[in-house]
Amino acid sequence: MHMTLLKQAAFASAMLLMAACCDRSNWVDKALDDALIQALSMAKQLENLPGQLPRTASPEGELVTSGSDWWCSGFYPGTLWLLYQDCGDPELLRYATKFTGRLHREQYNTSTHDLGFMLFCSYGNAWRATGADSCKTVLLNGARSLSSRFNPAVGCIQSWEAWDDFHFPVIIDNMMNLEMLLWASEAGGDTLPRHIAIAHADRTMQCHFRPDYSSYHVVSYSPVTGEVEFQGTNQGYSDSSAWARGQAWGLYGYTMMYRETGYDRYLEQARHIAQFLIRHPRLPQDKIPYWDFDSPAIPDDFRDSSTAAVMASALLELSRYVEGEEAAEYFAVAETQLKTLASPAYTAKRGTNGGFILMHGVGNVPQHSEIDAPLSYGDYYYVEALLRYKNHPQYTDPCAK
Ligand code: GLY
Repeated sequence: MHMTLLKQAAFASAMLLMAACCDRSNWVDKALDDALIQALSMAKQLENLPGQLPRTASPEGELVTSGSDWWCSGFYPGTLWLLYQDCGDPELLRYATKFTGRLHREQYNTSTHDLGFMLFCSYGNAWRATGADSCKTVLLNGARSLSSRFNPAVGCIQSWEAWDDFHFPVIIDNMMNLEMLLWASEAGGDTLPRHIAIAHADRTMQCHFRPDYSSYHVVSYSPVTGEVEFQGTNQGYSDSSAWARGQAWGLYGYTMMYRETGYDRYLEQARHIAQFLIRHPRLPQDKIPYWDFDSPAIPDDFRDSSTAAVMASALLELSRYVEGEEAAEYFAVAETQLKTLASPAYTAKRGTNGGFILMHGVGNVPQHSEIDAPLSYGDYYYVEALLRYKNHPQYTDPCAK
């Protein structure tokens, strides 16, 4: 079938599904409905592209895909599982199951640190939704593959393969891969993945952060002595700058580490990072960060919707672990971010944007890649944040009597 017809069919079935769901007139349910329509339209496109998973869209709005080995492969299946959690629709379940299966071989991939992103967003959410043993097996194998990149002399998992003087590079993003290890110890009974996750989080706290609690993107170590050999960036504006998404990965990562371990040091770290972000003089009023807080082009520079989505999701969780004005402030910042993302300034018109939900993400500026473009991780953390918002104790349902 022609792609436009496929999109129309997806639109019609999503409208029927929404009508069956409930009264969804408030902004957050409307945002979830927008997400649902886009996600289903993307599913129809992907059905005809065997083995492929969404990556971004071209400037003309055509879907651009990748194989399962790209670090973003798990986000779209994960988005389907999150939406399924909200709506319980069998069509979502069918698609989520189908596209999650496309990552099956990655459980044995030992060449990347991104297995947490890839497998925990896809199979992890599948396991939460279904409890299937087959998902548990994939995740335990994935945790073993990820653990194989740990070096005890450094106390970290290696992010990228070594090159030139970078003998053991570790990036702040890697904090996001630790949740699968903590889960694996709980589910599989082997304490090693948990020890690895804690060691990695502790060393990262020591070596990635500056006195103001901003973080370097890359720290490279000697794999023999464990000494720090380099602190700087690869994806940010400069070695001393605060690359925005990296700050959000750190915030999310330490909040998650506190949830999973109960260790106060992780809660304190997350609170410090949150303060750095929300007090930053170059965080705009609508709370959508520029791609790097230190870009000299600000205010004439790109905002990054994906950073806002990750940050909102993390702040909503962190606000549950603190009290009083601090909790209220984290909730309020996340609410502003979500309302801005849900507005036409950032949410794509239904049936456009290659099927992605959000516009205006920033992938990699130094590589000139995916700038002002839709990003599958922006969509994933946006939907996660909307659900965290809706289920938050501070949320008041405008329709509640
Ligand atoms: N993990 C790569 C990125 O955040 O762009």
